[in-house]
Amino acid sequence: MLVVQQIEVFFQHVIQVLKGVSLTVPPGQIVCVLGANGAGKSTTLKAISGLLAAEDGRVTDGLIEFDGKRIDNRLAHDVAGMGITQVFEGRRVLEHLTVDENLRAGNLGGTRGMQSKLEQVYSIFPHLKSLRKKAAGWLSGGEQQMLVIGRAIMADPRLLLLDEPSLGLAPLLVKEIFATIERINREFSTAILLVEQNAARALEIASYAYVMENGRIVMDGEAQVVKENPDIKEFYLGLGEFGTRKSYKDVKHYKRRKRWL
Ligand SMILES: Nc1ncnc2c1ncn2[C@@H]1O[C@H](COP(=O)(O)OP(=O)(O)O)[C@@H](O)[C@H]1O
Ligand SMILES: [Mg+2]
Repeated sequence: MLVVQQIEVFFQHVIQVLKGVSLTVPPGQIVCVLGANGAGKSTTLKAISGLLAAEDGRVTDGLIEFDGKRIDNRLAHDVAGMGITQVFEGRRVLEHLTVDENLRAGNLGGTRGMQSKLEQVYSIFPHLKSLRKKAAGWLSGGEQQMLVIGRAIMADPRLLLLDEPSLGLAPLLVKEIFATIERINREFSTAILLVEQNAARALEIASYAYVMENGRIVMDGEAQVVKENPDIKEFYLGLGEFGTRKSYKDVKHYKRRKRWL
């Protein structure tokens, strides 16, 4: 469904951030991209959704195809119209609008079908329904995350790009967010490209995983297999060989012998 092939991305013509990134998302599947801060995960999502242009960024090499059509460097508006919706990092709600209005703003298809889409979102997030008249700026972090995901669903995407949905949330909410992502995938058959630093949870719900470092994919495989990889256990799951938690100092020391470098 989505094919990203060897893309290179530059900002302002001089800052190269992606150095040949390839990944695919099959229809109806959850695929995750793991990686530390600054690896290039958000840039990858923006390259797909067409939002790079807003930051003076450009795909300078390689290609991106959605349903067999080239979408690299297309206008964000066109890409959204083809069925790809991105949920940004950092839960950007329209603070002064109510929950209900925020959701309506996500609908790309005019007023037809608006009510049934709203009901669909409220069935996934019943808690949002009780907040529907409240200004979004007053919601908690977890509620705002649900709202931005709900707003994305209003656009009826076939591919949802999620950028670190669990970042900064309390453990209980993290669990809820991941369960919801799985439910959206199951109930609407929405394909999901999930960017996460919470590798343990992401690997639980994804079928396939990519690991990104310094603008490159350094490893990929079935999520079940990636989860068992000793380096992934050590550097991304914080588990040593004997299942013990390594300290940051140890991890730093061991960084020298990452097998993929
Ligand atoms: N608009 C931009 N202009 C210049 N550099 C950028 C821009 N956006 C991101 N970068 C740089 O690209 C690198 C990757 O950023 P990003 O894709 O946000 O990483 P991640 O999402 O994995 O944390 C970082 O070094 C960041 O400073
Ligand atoms: Mg990011």
